[in-house]
Amino acid sequence: MNLNLNNKYALVCGSTAGIGKATAMALANEGVQVTLIARNEEKLKATLTELPQQRQHDYIVADFSNPDELKSKVSNYISKNHGFHILVNNTGGPAGGPVFMADLDEFQKAFTQHLKCNHVLAQTVVPFMKEAGYGRIVNVISTSVKQPLDGLGVSNTIRGAVANWSKTLANELGQFGITVNNVLPGATGTERLTEIIKNKSAKSGNSEEEAAHAMKQAVPAKRFAKPEELADAITFLASERASYINGINLPVDGGRTKSL
Ligand SMILES: NC(=O)c1ccc[n+]([C@@H]2O[C@H](COP(=O)([O-])OP(=O)(O)OC[C@H]3O[C@@H](n4cnc5c(N)ncnc54)[C@H](OP(=O)(O)O)[C@@H]3O)[C@@H](O)[C@H]2O)c1
Repeated sequence: MNLNLNNKYALVCGSTAGIGKATAMALANEGVQVTLIARNEEKLKATLTELPQQRQHDYIVADFSNPDELKSKVSNYISKNHGFHILVNNTGGPAGGPVFMADLDEFQKAFTQHLKCNHVLAQTVVPFMKEAGYGRIVNVISTSVKQPLDGLGVSNTIRGAVANWSKTLANELGQFGITVNNVLPGATGTERLTEIIKNKSAKSGNSEEEAAHAMKQAVPAKRFAKPEELADAITFLASERASYINGINLPVDGGRTKSL
């Protein structure tokens, strides 16, 4: 299948580790010119050197705890360089814990980092997408939008808001050749998962191996996802081949979610 992604520009957020980094690699391998975003400049530079060198990839240092600064950095980048056909909204997940114990600050922080940042990025990149008659916004969320996950109270809450923001945006932007879709990772072998396993182990008194084994048993595939498996789904949604897929939640979870 020819994904026809040559000559496209992508802004891939949270792209120095895990799912975001694998996505940057997958898009670059399809001929996309990628601009990475994360907080740590050393990691951004290191990731840049790992991308295939046919195109001039780049990076922006930004922190998703500050949407105004993020917006101004990306706007400035676009005015000096180029706009983006593809936006992959992705950042670090909120801390775990039961929802009843969550501080108001935790909701505020997660809402800012996830919903507000996705929103300012969409507002910043959509004018170029409209002009190009081609836009793909892919939000990396969680299967918790279909089935809330135990011990991830703030995350469950904020992911629901992002999913509904995204669906609404899909309704508004479809007429311009722009699609907005959500990818819902199941347990995926990244730093984030290592943290989740540590927390489960500490809470249950089981070893980390036992905690990981129990998580794998809950998946029909009996294993964790590789970040590359998420990246492949995101890359397909970013391609011309996915032009009539709009406003969906796509679980990439080995069948773990117990609803359709
Ligand atoms: N892995 C899983 O099992 C799983 C399952 C369901 C959902 N998810 C969700 O999928 C998303 C990606 O997960 P992942 O496992 O790939 O995460 P990860 O390995 O922890 O990578 C997170 C990336 O986001 C960047 N980042 C973190 N905080 C940031 C901030 N405040 N501003 C800008 N960039 C920031 C990190 O770089 P810097 O630290 O340099 O900024 C890094 O590049 C998260 O929302 C996660 O909750 C993951």
